[in-house]
Amino acid sequence: MAGQNWTIKDEIRDYWSGRAASFDLSPGHEIFAEDERHAWHALIEKHLGAGAGRDALDLASGTGVISRLLCERGYSVTGLDFSEPMLERAEAKAKAHGLDARYVMGDAENTLLADAAYDVIMTRHLVWTLPDPAAAFADWFRVLKPGGRVLIVDADMAARTLRSRLLRKAAAVLKRFADTADRPGVDKERHNRIVAQVHFSGGARAEDVAALLRDAGFQNIAIDRGFSPIRRAQGRHMPLHQRIDRASQDRYAIQASKPVQQAVQAPGDSLRAA
Ligand SMILES: C[S@@+](CC[C@H](N)C(=O)[O-])C[C@H]1O[C@@H](n2cnc3c(N)ncnc32)[C@H](O)[C@@H]1O
Repeated sequence: MAGQNWTIKDEIRDYWSGRAASFDLSPGHEIFAEDERHAWHALIEKHLGAGAGRDALDLASGTGVISRLLCERGYSVTGLDFSEPMLERAEAKAKAHGLDARYVMGDAENTLLADAAYDVIMTRHLVWTLPDPAAAFADWFRVLKPGGRVLIVDADMAARTLRSRLLRKAAAVLKRFADTADRPGVDKERHNRIVAQVHFSGGARAEDVAALLRDAGFQNIAIDRGFSPIRRAQGRHMPLHQRIDRASQDRYAIQASKPVQQAVQAPGDSLRAA
């Protein structure tokens, strides 16, 4: 039974810890084919460039799927997550594959990492589940080096158009006939309880995420919806109803950078470059 000090963060952490053991069984989480791996590499190259030994932070690293991709692109990776079972799996994988990755336990909204320590930050499927994304983005801005880049990969699950509502309905009908069990480890009730309490409870619209990044001081913000290669590759490993459900969602990557020079305001002064 949750005590008085039990917060939404504890609920979210427990939910993901409960999913850690089966997380990598799902297409869309772990990578099951080389064409998907290549498509992710292309996305990373496009938005973050080559690693060449630069420092990357994989926020909410889960079982380390994104960390591994970043290592393969030549980054030296730190993964951060607040779920111990997730971190254990990420650490085991890094060891098994000989990756240049280390893991720390922490809260992605308040990482407690050093200022200006990372060249890039990448985070997949985290932003939709943050209670306070504005606090998170301010912290990510702080830990990035000047000129550093963040790449957010996420999805707006709200069915906002007639097309996506129809696709969602078709997926639900097909799922009933397909007689497939829900994804292992998924506690739907708990999931819905969490979604009702997070910042983006009505869906994480890419434009709203971009606006919060701008408020935090990021610039050169670009939304990329070119997910077809990744979606096609993942789809080959998904049942039809899941493929259709995914097509109803708006999947996106958002790239943004920390200015090389930060604006500062001296007393009695107008804004000037530092
Ligand atoms: C959907 S999983 C994504 C894992 C990984 N990024 C991936 O794409 O494979 C969400 C992860 O976010 C972590 N998480 C959620 N909120 C967090 C927070 N505030 N701080 C740190 N980790 C968080 C969970 O523990 C879980 O591992």
